[in-house]
Amino acid sequence: MHLTSIARSCAILPRSTRPSHHALARPLFALSQTRQSSHSPMGTPPANPRKKVTVGTLRSLHKRGEPITMITAHDFPSAHVADAAGMDMVLVGDSLAMVALGMEDTSEIVLEEMLLHCRSVARATKAAFTVGDLPMGSYEIAPQQALETAIRFIKEGRMQGIKLEGGKEMAPTIAKITTAGIPVLGHVGLTPQRQNALGGFRVQGKTAFGAVKVLEDALAVQEAGCFAVVLEAVPAEVAVIVTRKLSIPTIGIGAGNGCSGQVLVQVDMTGNFPPGRFLPKFVKKYGDVWAESLKAIEAYRDDVKSRQYPAPEHTYQIPKDELVVFAEHADKV
Ligand code: KIV
Repeated sequence: MHLTSIARSCAILPRSTRPSHHALARPLFALSQTRQSSHSPMGTPPANPRKKVTVGTLRSLHKRGEPITMITAHDFPSAHVADAAGMDMVLVGDSLAMVALGMEDTSEIVLEEMLLHCRSVARATKAAFTVGDLPMGSYEIAPQQALETAIRFIKEGRMQGIKLEGGKEMAPTIAKITTAGIPVLGHVGLTPQRQNALGGFRVQGKTAFGAVKVLEDALAVQEAGCFAVVLEAVPAEVAVIVTRKLSIPTIGIGAGNGCSGQVLVQVDMTGNFPPGRFLPKFVKKYGDVWAESLKAIEAYRDDVKSRQYPAPEHTYQIPKDELVVFAEHADKV
């Protein structure tokens, strides 16, 4: 109902029960002064904001021998918490296809979907260096295609760098992108986008021949200009030697603690998945977000069913005199 029609009907009420002009105006005034909605911005900026992490920062961490921390984020809240926790790098990995979008594997995700998630992560990540993962099909055809995709990650995804999978064969592509001034994070060892060719998600470098391939790939992507390289699922001893042979940092995932840094998928390490899900050996579960969320949502369900929620403290009040006027008006409608 429109406020003016209430006001008109109020004119016929005895003066004592007539709401003041001010009282009628109050709700509108209140609306413009406060935000009574869950559609509110997330939190306030930290009191002591961290300095922005750059490629230079990562280089000095590496030089000092201080491990580099990296974690995936797939949306605004997961990036927000990763940044607040002091991560050096935040990766919008294509793992989001499976753990955030429920796809069967990472080959299904398309560029536009990655860019959408990159943008939301970028909005929350104030200090950490952000890296977007080029999805399968967006970079393998030619260096030119890869550069065009990388530029979209920077311009539209608002990322600061990109990651792409592959070793020696990707060197010309990496060179093309880095020459254009876009930082590239390499990714060798197990490259999940090539799972069909690798015969599944298998540990790489388990033979001397395989380990040489991991080393040669890592050296090639370094030579092509990568600022760092992810070593995925390789034996720890191999990762130590590869790390020693490189002048850029290695970021390990399932590669032991001898790498220059570590990366984990946030959903895995926070335990944000139902019981029984397969977890690779290298994942350490630092939390049980699933159990916490389940407990909270079940409690909410029970409170709603039993009318214990919302309680008076969650409820807006109307002044008694306004309510009388409104109830009298409602009776007539
Ligand atoms: O997609 C991803 O999250 C990744 C990390 C596992 C390195 O590539």
